[in-house]
Amino acid sequence: MQNIQENKKNQAEGEIEISPKKMFIKTYGCQMNFYDSEKMGGTMNNHGFKLEEEISDECDLIVLNTCHIREKASEKMYSDLGRIKKFKDKRKAEGKTTVVAVAGCVAQAEGAEIKTRAPYVDIVVGPQSYQRLPMLVKNAEESVRFGNTKAGVDLDFSTIDKFDFLLEEMEKEQIPADVHEIKSTAFLTVQEGCDKFCTFCVVPYTRGAEVSRDVNQIYREALLLAERGTKELNLLGQNVNAYHGKADKETWGLGKLIRHIANIKGIERIRYTTSHPRDMDEDLINMHGECEKLMPFVHLPVQSGSDNILKLMNRKHTADDYRRIIDKFRKVRSDIEFSSDFIVGFPGETEQDFRDTIKLIEDIQFTLSYSFIYSARPGTPGANLEDNTPMELKKERLQQLQALLEKQMFEQLANKVGRTMSVLFSRTGKYENHLVGFSPYYQPVIVENRPDLMNKIANVKIEKSVDRALIGIIAN
Ligand code: SAH
Ligand code: SF4
Ligand code: F3S
Repeated sequence: MQNIQENKKNQAEGEIEISPKKMFIKTYGCQMNFYDSEKMGGTMNNHGFKLEEEISDECDLIVLNTCHIREKASEKMYSDLGRIKKFKDKRKAEGKTTVVAVAGCVAQAEGAEIKTRAPYVDIVVGPQSYQRLPMLVKNAEESVRFGNTKAGVDLDFSTIDKFDFLLEEMEKEQIPADVHEIKSTAFLTVQEGCDKFCTFCVVPYTRGAEVSRDVNQIYREALLLAERGTKELNLLGQNVNAYHGKADKETWGLGKLIRHIANIKGIERIRYTTSHPRDMDEDLINMHGECEKLMPFVHLPVQSGSDNILKLMNRKHTADDYRRIIDKFRKVRSDIEFSSDFIVGFPGETEQDFRDTIKLIEDIQFTLSYSFIYSARPGTPGANLEDNTPMELKKERLQQLQALLEKQMFEQLANKVGRTMSVLFSRTGKYENHLVGFSPYYQPVIVENRPDLMNKIANVKIEKSVDRALIGIIAN
């Protein structure tokens, strides 16, 4: 709000011509996109746009931050664009301009083609170019006003400029005035991009090569978040444990970075996601035994339990490598739990390959998992593999796998009953007087009648598990 008022003042003084405007950002895909959207929202707020919670025909700027990972994700964007066109046409008839921007991984992958399929899109901006969003929006506003239909396209890979700029914009943002505006848990991207080239995956093409942010830059951002009331940091990267950031004359891995951030007063919990089995080093594993603030819950995608399929996927680890990593974690922290991602129906998957995946799941016991039917993505090596498995069979396998994963999820909820766990309360519940927080294992925990605990960590005695959540009472 303050920025909008300042803009009004500046306008009155004839300094810059910006009036209060409204924007809406829709985010698809992974947490890194959610992080980027937050940063785009903050930046555009600094440039006179107020972020709306819902899309409407009052929005002057609409940003779709898109995901290319599976076919469905990209198609969703095009169907949303169809709806947005209606808003834009209606506003045009009223003499108002609307700027439509497509950001994220579909923008990077499909580039100017988006303009062909949806000519009313004004900006196509890739994930490494958000530092130029304010300029692109300003140019687009002028183009739209003068009836120019040429889209601003920016698909450069210059990750480090982006983070410098976004951090500076974040420093200009206001400190939350109200307890309900505090982000108890915040994402902090430490690494972007991927050099692994799994044969099914578009990420190396949409996000580019692996790049790590400097330790000092990350530390500044973490301090800023802590000052604004954040208690839990979730360090993000497409391959977060491939982190190798500059710290003075040294290069640090993720374990060392976590040790450093854990010193920040106010930061009580640290998580990281998404890690890759190949990059899991001793230092990071050992941190789980040393650092109380590091949560005993790791998202470690395995994709398949069959060595044949892992090889075809170019994962460069075997199912037993994965089992050994899990054992190492359990040795340093016996109460640690895991989540994972699985792909069912990769080209050539036999019944035995599928059985191997089921066996791996049974051996490990996951707390939470995400599973998908393989989607052939244009430009990836997997798309050229012969795939003879009928879709019906793939669906059956997915169902079977999900039933097992769901059973394990409920078991992991049930075994918390009777235990006392720390919970960080971050939102109000569905019912009045309910507060919802997260256990160390990312399970939602509900307590009644304690609104004073918002944004605080408290010990909760778990009394029961209902649906996918835990219900408890404050223990201290
Ligand atoms: N960097 C992470 C994963 C990023 S993508 C890793 O290496 O594990 C998130 C998940 O989407 C993947 O773990 C995978 O399970 C799924 N995924 C990626 N490409 C896919 C495809 N072509 N079809 C189906 N699922 C896919
Ligand atoms: Fe994709 Fe593999 Fe890279 Fe993960 S490690 S982002 S699955 S290419
Ligand atoms: Fe999707 Fe891009 Fe993330 S493809 S999963 S938004 S890195």
